[in-house]
Amino acid sequence: MDIYEALYTTRAMRRVKPDPVPADVQHKIVDAAIRAPTGGNTQGWRFLLVDDPAVIGQIAPIYRECIDFLWEHIYNERIAAAEADPESEASKQMMVMQKSVQYAVDHFAEYPLLLFAFDQADTTGGSIFPAVWSAMLAARAEGVGSSLTSVLMIKGEEVPDLLGVPADEGWRMACCVPMGYPKGKWGVAQRAPVHTVSFRNHWGQSVAFESDQPLWP
Ligand SMILES: Cc1cc2nc3c(=O)[nH]c(=O)nc-3n(C[C@H](O)[C@H](O)[C@H](O)COP(=O)(O)O)c2cc1C
Repeated sequence: MDIYEALYTTRAMRRVKPDPVPADVQHKIVDAAIRAPTGGNTQGWRFLLVDDPAVIGQIAPIYRECIDFLWEHIYNERIAAAEADPESEASKQMMVMQKSVQYAVDHFAEYPLLLFAFDQADTTGGSIFPAVWSAMLAARAEGVGSSLTSVLMIKGEEVPDLLGVPADEGWRMACCVPMGYPKGKWGVAQRAPVHTVSFRNHWGQSVAFESDQPLWP
């Protein structure tokens, strides 16, 4: 696959089939992930693949509690604003995301694979998220959809304890990435145009290129 196709179309793919992700595909995903950079090449990371439906079933209600908390306490104002002005582009995007996230909550137990990433020492995330994104891109190349979730951290050590993560080695759960074969189609991620978020030479100065539409395809 063309690298730009992977970069432009690796979306939060929450609607996936329950079909298993074969072990050789899982192997490729994690083996690609560990090529990513870490500060000082410390590689202070661990990846935990969960494809046992019984374990995923135990995590599902915890995920629901976390998202319920998110809607109620973190996103409450954004949701209220979107409901008050449903025709604006920002409101529409918010509603689409909320629906997609709620789908993940309601179908969490059906995900065939969860990839957990843990880091140690560098808790900025700078030494784990490049690998997580590489895993998501490798999954994309294999036709596997994924979505990054950090919300389980709301429940502290509940999930790490459930997964048997040693409590005394400094491992921090950075995220959980549910994966599976998509139900729908891959599309290009919509974002605020590049020239509205980039500068050249000085903060606030025009970057000197402009494109309202993505450059790929
Ligand atoms: C650090 C981080 C944390 C995230 N946490 C969650 C999460 O807890 N639950 C979730 O459904 N999506 C989560 N996401 C996914 C974002 O919602 C998603 O990347 C964003 O809406 C863009 O989606 P798109 O690429 O499909 O346009 C997270 C993404 C990042 C980078």
